This record gives sequence, structure tokens and C-alpha cells, in this order.
Amino acid sequence: MTEQDFLKTLQNYGQHHIVEHYRALTPHQRDVFLEANRDLDVPLVMRLHRQFCQPGDTRPSSAGISPPRVVSLPRSTREHDDALRARSVGESLLQRQKVAALVVAGGQGSRLGFEGPKGTFPLSPVKEKTLFQLFAEQVRCLSARFGVTIPFLIMTSGDNHVDTVRFFQRNRYFGLTPDSVYFFSQGVLPAVSPDGRLILRDKVHFYTSPNGHGGSLKALSDSGLLARLMAAGYEELFYCQVDNPLVRIADPVFLGHHSLEGAQVSTKVVRRRGVDEKVGVYLVVNGRQAVIEYSDLDETNMKALDENGGILYWAGNTAIHIFSLSFIRDLNSDGFALPYHCARKSAYVVSSDWEPASVDVWKFETFVFDAIPLAQRACCMEVAREEEFAPVKNKEGPDSPDTARQALIDLHRSWLEKAGIKVPPHAKVEISPLFALSPEDVVERLRNRRVVISSEIYIE
Ligand code: UD1
Repeated sequence: MTEQDFLKTLQNYGQHHIVEHYRALTPHQRDVFLEANRDLDVPLVMRLHRQFCQPGDTRPSSAGISPPRVVSLPRSTREHDDALRARSVGESLLQRQKVAALVVAGGQGSRLGFEGPKGTFPLSPVKEKTLFQLFAEQVRCLSARFGVTIPFLIMTSGDNHVDTVRFFQRNRYFGLTPDSVYFFSQGVLPAVSPDGRLILRDKVHFYTSPNGHGGSLKALSDSGLLARLMAAGYEELFYCQVDNPLVRIADPVFLGHHSLEGAQVSTKVVRRRGVDEKVGVYLVVNGRQAVIEYSDLDETNMKALDENGGILYWAGNTAIHIFSLSFIRDLNSDGFALPYHCARKSAYVVSSDWEPASVDVWKFETFVFDAIPLAQRACCMEVAREEEFAPVKNKEGPDSPDTARQALIDLHRSWLEKAGIKVPPHAKVEISPLFALSPEDVVERLRNRRVVISSEIYIE
């Protein structure tokens, strides 16, 4: 966009304070200002501001809500057979090199109180492997097992892109070939004041914020990575968040159910811990499957119980998904299809006399799970929380590094016990993803091996 066009856009949207500010800059500052800001989607933000100014409750009404159909944890013989069939379909997808894996890691990790990208947080109980290492080693193990390349994609944000790439370089990509690891940065949008004025962070930059994890589906397309993956024959994208060390990357059973159901998007859910747990809830809303964030669901539905006193809408969103690549392409074919949400927050910016000040800002972001109601077919699969979901969100208390470490210890202890190995009650246990990805692997691989039992057990 030329300087003239950019200034005209700002004028047209009533952003005269920015135009005046621009005119008062030195020639060099103007160049920097234009370079930094002219590609920002100001018309979109102005449209969103108008949209969110409209009064009205956007929460779904109770009448339109019902529980979804869920592929439940296998209990009966038939369900176990279904799971086996799904596993073999998923393994075939992996073998035929149809699967890539994405970790979204653009968030700030501020709730955790950790400086640096969240994926660089040391988490595993014995070796203190970082979250990124735990994921990369799973990808490495699966790629070797199936004799294929599983592209490992990491979505960063402007704030942590360089640090994330350097971290992988310093650690030699944890044994993955560097050209199978792809980093791409998510988009940003300018924030506005409640009365719709663009805000300056400093003399030459707008105050912007990342466009939410839904932005991963846009950035994949915008960056050309989606087209490259499709051209190379890949079909499915496994998706997870950076905060869950228990995630099973590219789980064949999950891939298999996704494929057998003919789904364009699939989601793993766990039973909600209680009616107040801060997770999204998987539901059917007005006939379409959807995830509604806990904060957007009214109290009656959040707390609704079934006739046995259990939680009626029990399916909590783990944020583990599979997206068919052709579906991601469709979501981008006529503009970007995901709706935006508005987060009303306060932020530190510079005031008009260039002193730091706290102001109210509206930030706009997309949620990846809003793709679910847009799919022709969606699949929802239940998994056991203790096996697959222990997110690290908070510094202390629930969903903290301590609880996630304990969950890893408990899980790996249970794997050893299935292989007939007794572990002392307070021992720390860690099994490298390079050694085993499941209890079956442990049983198989420990058949002719002795394990030294001590207060810290690490198996690789
Ligand atoms: C999220 C889900 C919730 C789900 C829970 C499971 C939302 C709104 N809610 O909650 O339904 O039950 O996880 O753990 O997502 N991220 C980006 N870019 C962004 C924003 C976030 O990459 O612009 C990444 C973060 O790095 C993180 C993940 O998305 O990996 C989660 O984001 P966060 O905003 O922390 O959502 P949660 O509150 O954890």
C-alpha cells in the first residue's frame, strides 16, 4: 500500500489523530512507520469494532443446545474392535506419509510467570526436558517407526519467533532433520480503544496483538506452507497446544476415527473435572457441533446435570484436533472464514504526551475450534484425562508445572506396572518418547531388559 492510500484509509475510518501524528514525524520515522504498519488490516478492525459495539447477548440459548455424539473410551468388545480398526487406518495414514503435526506456540505464557517461549519451559520430572523437546522426540520416534517424514510445524508470534527458532537451532532440532521443522509466525491485528481509535505503542508502531490460535489456519495458508504440504501429498494436520506434555502427537487411533468418520475436523475431549473447570465445552449448537468457551456459556448450561447427577455437557475441550488440509484450504478460499472474538482488556501504552499509561483496549482474535461448526462432518473422541491431558497454565495450584509433572510420573509408572515392574511409591519416573509412546511399547521393549529401580527412574 502506498503512503497516500494508507493515509486515505486512516482518514476514511476517522483515524485523524494517527494522520496528524504521522505528519509530525521526521522523514526517517515516517519510513519506519509505513514499513511497520501499512500491511495491518485496518478495515477489518474497524468492521469488528462496529460489530462488537452492537448490543446483544451472543451466547447460544439453552433451547438450541444438546450433547454431541462422542466416540467413547472403548469398554465393550465392539468398541475395542473399533479402536483397533481405527488404529490400523491411522497407521496406514502415517505409513503413506499423509500426516503433518502442528504445535501452536504463539501465546505469551504470562499466567505461568515464565520469561521466554512456553515451549522452552523445562517440564519432564527426571531429565527436565522442555515441552518442545517432548513433542519433537515424539515426532522423531513416529517418523522413524513408520519410515516417513512427519513435518513438524510450530506456530510462533512476533514476540517469540526469534527465540523459538534459536532454541531449536541451539538444541540441533532435538535430532529432527532441520528441513522437516517449519516455523511460521501468526498474524497480528491492531487493537482499538473502546471508542474505536487506533492506539500507538510508540512513535512508529501501532499497539497490536496476535490474532488468536485460529490465526494458525490463516497463517498456514498465507505463508504458502499449506500449499506446499498439499503438493507434497500430505492430507491431515494433527494440531495441539504447546501447554500439554501428555499430548499423543499424531495418535493413530485418533487419526483412524477421523478418517473412518469422514471428518474434516476432529477433537479429543475429556470428562470435565467439575462444573467450574475453565475449559471449552463440546456441544451441539443449533444442529451443529461446536466448542463454546466456558466464559461464553451461560451458568445454567455450564452447571446442567443429567438424570444421574453427572455433568450433562461433560465433554471438555483438550484443544487436540485433526484438520484435513483441504478443509483448511476451504476456510481460506473466500477470505478467512473464522469469526472474531473481542477481548476487552487494559494495556500499558504511551499516552499522548508519551508517558506510559494504562488504557482500555479491545483486542480481536479467532479461536481455532470455531472451525468445527463450519465443517460438513466433525468427529469428537473421548480420551482419559490421566493419559492425555495435563496442561500447564498457572504458576501454582491446578494446571501448573507441579500437576503436569505428577501426571507424567503417574502415567509412566502405570506403563511400567503394565510391564510387571513395581515402582516404589515416591519414585520419579520418566520414559523417553524415543523409547516408548504407549504402554504396549513398554511391554514389548522391556521384555528382555532389566530396569534399575531407584528413586529416579529414567528409561530411554
Ligand atoms: C484453551 C481453550 C479451551 C481449552 C483449553 C485446553 C481457548 C479460547 N480456549 O484455553 O477451550 O479447553 O485450552 O487446555 O483457546 N495461542 C497462540 N496464539 C494466540 C493465542 C494462543 O498460539 O494468539 C496458543 C498458546 O500458545 C497456547 C494455546 O494457544 O498453546 C492456548 O491459548 P490460551 O489462550 O492460553 O487458551 P486457554 O485458556 O489455555
